[in-house]
Amino acid sequence: MKRYLQTGAAWLFIFGLLALPFACATLLPVPTEESASWASQQWPGTTLADLQSGRSSYEATCASCHDLHLPSEFTPEKWERIMVKMQVKARINDGQKNLILRYLLTASTQEAERK
Ligand code: HEC
Repeated sequence: MKRYLQTGAAWLFIFGLLALPFACATLLPVPTEESASWASQQWPGTTLADLQSGRSSYEATCASCHDLHLPSEFTPEKWERIMVKMQVKARINDGQKNLILRYLLTASTQEAERK
């Protein structure tokens, strides 16, 4: 009996470790047609592809020093202030910064509306 419990615990541990890298990726909201249409009203010309590229830049450039923060963690005003600082840290240009910011603001506003 004890042995079964031990193997069970070991498997749980292994599966837990395997699931870990997917946890963040699934939590980060994926832009939808609906969010793209909201974004295009805020920033004319913004497309779904822009939001998708903002999301992947966010994952690619913002996770090297700390864990990614969820868009819903901060208000749009707070994100704007944070991004001024983090643009310098991440050494990205204004274009990349704007794509990331638009993704974050869109996702954070939509999550707030859903609550
Ligand atoms: C070179 C390292 C580095 C990179 C790259 C980096 N950050 Fe940070 N980030 C920090 C440090 C250090 C802090 C904590 C101290 C501070 O607020 O300056 C921080 C804090 C934060 C916070 C928390 C702010 C708060 O008020 O609680 C957020 C959100 C954040 N970063 C977002 C980002 C985003 C978005 C990017 C990508 C554009 C990014 N970070 C890239 C180093 C980095």
